[in-house]
Amino acid sequence: MKIVKSPQELQKICLSLVRKNKSIGLVPTMGALHAGHISLIKKSVSQNDVTVVSVYVNPIQFGPDEDYNKYPRPIENDIKICKENKVDFLFLPTNETLYGKKFLTYVATEEISKIMCGVTRPIHFRGVTTVVSKLLNISLADRAYFGLKDYQQYIIIKKMVEDLNIRTKIIGCPIVREKTGIALSSRNTYLKPEAKSEANGIYAALCKAKKEFSDGKTLSAIKKNLEKNILKINDSKIDYVELRNADTLEPATKDDKKVLVAVAVKVGNVRLIDNTVCSK
Ligand code: PAJ
Repeated sequence: MKIVKSPQELQKICLSLVRKNKSIGLVPTMGALHAGHISLIKKSVSQNDVTVVSVYVNPIQFGPDEDYNKYPRPIENDIKICKENKVDFLFLPTNETLYGKKFLTYVATEEISKIMCGVTRPIHFRGVTTVVSKLLNISLADRAYFGLKDYQQYIIIKKMVEDLNIRTKIIGCPIVREKTGIALSSRNTYLKPEAKSEANGIYAALCKAKKEFSDGKTLSAIKKNLEKNILKINDSKIDYVELRNADTLEPATKDDKKVLVAVAVKVGNVRLIDNTVCSK
């Protein structure tokens, strides 16, 4: 595995791979890699000649009161995980090499960046779409892998790629969970053990909602029960509970065949997101 720090160097390497007809898979991450990230890496390795993983805590997707400084950065362990999983290139850019002294250009996907997580995190998705478009341009990826854990992010990136005629195929990968139900997240390290066990209730509540959907309950009843079940979790505060069309993120209607049930919940002071997709 080769570690590359310079965007120009990685782009040069990837361009020569493209010229040799090699397919390139990109897995963008912020590091603190866990089994969720590893599932994306494995998929990329299985589908492409070459896999590039980026580890970069992207400052422009964090709001002023968010956890940019305390976000975990266990880089040696991330390097080890990438090597063990047959990553070809690990891209480790810095703020200086990626954004330079005077960075002026942003990519924003309107409307769907303002709902759900975008309500309390107004600049978040603009930061994500900007850095991901840079990573796609640098890596010249044929395919890029995103977890459905961050479902809204996945849909926004698919839309960005479609709207900007970017040739990369965006591949969504299933949510990896602990046996107890909680979705793996680098931010789970912020949870105290009691809070972590309470947080398993989020998945249990989502499973109940999914069951109610397949039983034919109305969307408003499903939403009400889900809110009630989430509030049973000790020390929980709902940021949002939303039912939306799973392809467009428009508010769900009774005719939708695929409905996203998504939640953002604070357990103690840790904000967690999770979701499930219900199909008719
Ligand atoms: P990060 O939170 O590190 O996540 C990197 C990728 O791993 C995302 O696509 C995310 O959805 C996926 N992932 C995280 N936990 C997962 C889980 N439990 N199961 C499946 N996939 C999971 O998302 C970001 O970084 C950043 O916003 C990024 C796209 C890298 C841009 O900075």
